[in-house]
Amino acid sequence: MERTVKIFDTTLRDGEQSPGCSMNLGEKLEVAKELEAMGVDIIEAGFAIASPGDAAAIASIADIVKSSTICSLARCVEKDIDAAWNAIRKANSARIHVFLATSPLHMQYKLQMTPDQVIERIAHHVAYAKQYCSDIEFSAEDACRSDLDFLCRALETAIKAGATTLNIPDTVGYMIPEEIFSRIKYVREHTEGIENCTISCHCHNDLGMAVANSLAAVQAGADQIECTINGIGERAGNASMEECVMALNTRKPYFEVGCNIQTKQIYRASRMIQTITGVPVAPTKPIVGANAFAHESGIHQHGVLANKETYEIMTPESVGIPQNEIVLGKHSGRHAFEERLKDLGYTLDQAKLDKVFDKFKALADKKKTIKDRDLEALIGVAPVSGAERYTLKSFVINSGNTITSTAVIALQKGDEVFERVAADAGPINAAYRAVNKIVGHDIVLEDYSLKALTEGEDAQCEAVVKLTIDGGKEFVTGRGVSTDIVEASIKSYINGINRYFND
Ligand code: KIV
Ligand code: ZN
Repeated sequence: MERTVKIFDTTLRDGEQSPGCSMNLGEKLEVAKELEAMGVDIIEAGFAIASPGDAAAIASIADIVKSSTICSLARCVEKDIDAAWNAIRKANSARIHVFLATSPLHMQYKLQMTPDQVIERIAHHVAYAKQYCSDIEFSAEDACRSDLDFLCRALETAIKAGATTLNIPDTVGYMIPEEIFSRIKYVREHTEGIENCTISCHCHNDLGMAVANSLAAVQAGADQIECTINGIGERAGNASMEECVMALNTRKPYFEVGCNIQTKQIYRASRMIQTITGVPVAPTKPIVGANAFAHESGIHQHGVLANKETYEIMTPESVGIPQNEIVLGKHSGRHAFEERLKDLGYTLDQAKLDKVFDKFKALADKKKTIKDRDLEALIGVAPVSGAERYTLKSFVINSGNTITSTAVIALQKGDEVFERVAADAGPINAAYRAVNKIVGHDIVLEDYSLKALTEGEDAQCEAVVKLTIDGGKEFVTGRGVSTDIVEASIKSYINGINRYFND
């Protein structure tokens, strides 16, 4: 019988904790639903002790997701484990993920603990977690720079205390595929009781080898891959789920390993994460990048026309890249609009569908043809839940290369309209300054980007901003789309503010 590797997705934990990738509750729920639809075996929904908001989001995910196991991370600290369990206890299938570092560097400088103290701590806390939950994962943080025999001792301790999955993370992305292969082989051969547990790998991408290392780990006997959509994660990121899954799929005769992921959902999940986080993937990103299936040179085009397999090792259809570009316009009705969203894989609730349809109609008045990218952008900017606190009522900008720009901005909040004037260098800065005067909070623009979504003179553009508000350390991402670049920029700023205050 074919081996099946479990896919453990940590987009909502390792991915979400990386700079610029934070998500609000509604967005986390959308991602969790998508991960479930993809067939992810285990969703690491967050780190419950990190904040009450994180714990509440994990609990909401545990409430709505039925077929994937829901997992929360915890340090070897009792209150972390309590918080993790409280967050996931209502899940159909729950897992507590406990971790402690085992490398000399981490033990000495981060934990300031002796190896014996580390062993004692693992024994106590894995057993503590086990009284709540039968499904316990233990991660030996920085396992790939740990002394091999000490690593085996730590894992054996975790097994005796009740761990059922043992993770061997390459926390700093240091491994070469052959090395992680031998490490896992050694651990398998020298850890008592490991044959009754699932071995997991969790590879970071600092040297660009996270996917190759994950696949080598699978060849050495790992039955679980920890990964994220688009490879988002700490520093250079984690192993990318789409790359791991498509490698297993495309090279099935080589790996002889399957997994439960519905590959046709991959493109949609990738776009969803790009839209929500505002972090685009490179055009050359394997599987989901804009050029991943594009054939530019004449020789390649000729080959592909004769037989796709000349230059394509997998098909765009297999990862769900839409092939038939249907163009909507102002005469398209609600039915055509809903059908296209369904074809693209979106199932929105009624309230959100209504909001997106209103935005679609408004856009159709300004733009002749509405393409899939336009629709996706409208979905991305429509609020996931709750009302928008501020909406843009009007703006008037006076700008030029010889004057200081001025902006008059009117925002609606409930039944009231607030209007302010501000001046600054450039029209966008002036507009943002006027918005700040209305909102009355300390808002700092940390990052700003603007791009055209489609080609043509009436193309929509999307502005993405990252803001920090009232001295907070976490960015909030705002998005705005319009056929007018100033309007898109102002809307993105307001969107960020609304998201901050609605959370
Ligand atoms: O990279 C790492 O070691 C982790 C652990 C918490 C699994 O993210
Ligand atoms: Zn990690």
